[in-house]
Amino acid sequence: MEIREVAVVGLGTMGAGIAEVFARAGIGVVAIEVDAAALGHGLGILEGSLAKAVSRGKLTDAQQAEIWGRIRPAASFSDAARVDLAIEVVPERMEIKRQIFGELDRVCSPEAILATNTSSLSVTAIAAASKHPGRVIGMHFFNPAPVMRLVEVVSTVLSGSALPGQVADLARRLGKTPVQVSDRAGFVANALLLPYLNHAVKLLEAGYASREDIDTAATDGIGLPMGPLALLDLIGLDTALSILQVLQAEFGGPRYTPAPLLRRLADAGRTGRKAGCGLYDYASGARDDGDKAGNEAASSSPSTVTLIGSGRAAEAEFASEVAAAGINVTRNPAHPSDLIVIVAGPDEQVLSAAIATGRPHEAVGLHMAAPGLAEVVSTYMTDPPYAAAAAALAERLGKKTVHTPDRPGFLVGALLYPHLGDAVRMVQDGYASVADVDTAMTLGCGYPQGPFQLLDKAGPAAVLDRLRGMQAGYGDPAFAPPPLLAEHAATGIGFTG
Ligand code: CAA
Repeated sequence: MEIREVAVVGLGTMGAGIAEVFARAGIGVVAIEVDAAALGHGLGILEGSLAKAVSRGKLTDAQQAEIWGRIRPAASFSDAARVDLAIEVVPERMEIKRQIFGELDRVCSPEAILATNTSSLSVTAIAAASKHPGRVIGMHFFNPAPVMRLVEVVSTVLSGSALPGQVADLARRLGKTPVQVSDRAGFVANALLLPYLNHAVKLLEAGYASREDIDTAATDGIGLPMGPLALLDLIGLDTALSILQVLQAEFGGPRYTPAPLLRRLADAGRTGRKAGCGLYDYASGARDDGDKAGNEAASSSPSTVTLIGSGRAAEAEFASEVAAAGINVTRNPAHPSDLIVIVAGPDEQVLSAAIATGRPHEAVGLHMAAPGLAEVVSTYMTDPPYAAAAAALAERLGKKTVHTPDRPGFLVGALLYPHLGDAVRMVQDGYASVADVDTAMTLGCGYPQGPFQLLDKAGPAAVLDRLRGMQAGYGDPAFAPPPLLAEHAATGIGFTG
């Protein structure tokens, strides 16, 4: 069946993005919003996105007009009578979805495909409410829909046998990569993404690190396109909360228990970018990043530094960078200096080395988490001005910095290693294959490398050690390394090879 016209029901951020994707692929779109204000708002999102593409030279004026001409706004379901596919993109409440599928059943032709973009509800339960459950399928796009290449095609036990293939073909026509997934909580990408995002909010709430540092650790330490807190604001805190609740009901355990802060912000209507505020404020049109830059600038780089380390290459390299910047280096803590820097490895703790210097209040750890990112590690004895001086030193050497407590994994590891452990657990428990997980995260969430590629780069044995360290340090079962990781570590065989 050729898809010539579709209906998109619900024109919020995702609905407007999905309507744009169809229209750009040459498919007519009936854009249905029963509420006039919401329809106007959704069309505004679409218009703005097309105008941005024109201003960036990605679309000509003529192409923009053609795409815009394919979109037919509608306030009533009866306008969907002749469409070949209808997709609902409305809030994640089963009663609303059921009502919409009831309307679509009534007006659409019996051959039309009925799709849901739900990210948290059971597609099977939605299908069961339709008079024709065989034609109901999940077609799950990722935000921003015009950019992210993944579409999860979610079939149910009730789906007609040709349906998943038809919808996958359609996704390809839209320029997307379809991945067939079964109707399980979170499908593939969200089941892995959401516990990681939730953990980031827990770190923020516990005062482990600042909002900006958590996000910088993910972008500059792991190489992800966005930090977890900025991403939560993009997804919507209400949507994230719904997905976590479904994951928790299905799997249980602390990784899925929504962070109280996430729940409170969602309850307060601070749902992210769409509300103008979430974990960040967007009131001025741009993201408010606090006064981090001002704080760091206030501290000046030291002129004499005592360098302590365990003689690894990272330490020698750092020592030569410090010397090349014209800063005096001493190795003896008994000699006077402005600051003691302990160059820490990823598994080391800083406190005992700090105490051994006899000047623990002046001692700060620096861990080079990535070529351009230094983690500034404060022990509970570090005086804050020394941490600021260590950050100023690293910045003088051209590195970005994040502040972290002296805890297992520091900040980058605290975000990354449990996420990799979750990925292994998904494969171990037969939830998804290694390839599905890597495809979902690269195409759905813009990871430059999939979790298993990242894991193999670090080495299964190193990831196992870090998780064991975190589990021992916190006593939290959420960090328990999955047995499959231990097996790969023991054999030295990677996951992707
Ligand atoms: N609509 C249309 N196009 C957009 C856009 C939007 N909202 N936002 C960005 N773009 C386009 C830009 O126009 C630009 O296009 P060109 O390269 O053709 O010029 C391109 O995307 C890159 O944008 P920017 O240069 O402005 O910004 P960036 O490089 O920082 O990328 C990003 C922005 C694409 C959002 C990137 O940060 C990213 O990939 N982030 C991860 C997003 C993610 O993880 N999404 C999945 C969330 S989970 C989900 O959605 C599922 C669910 O059920 C909750």
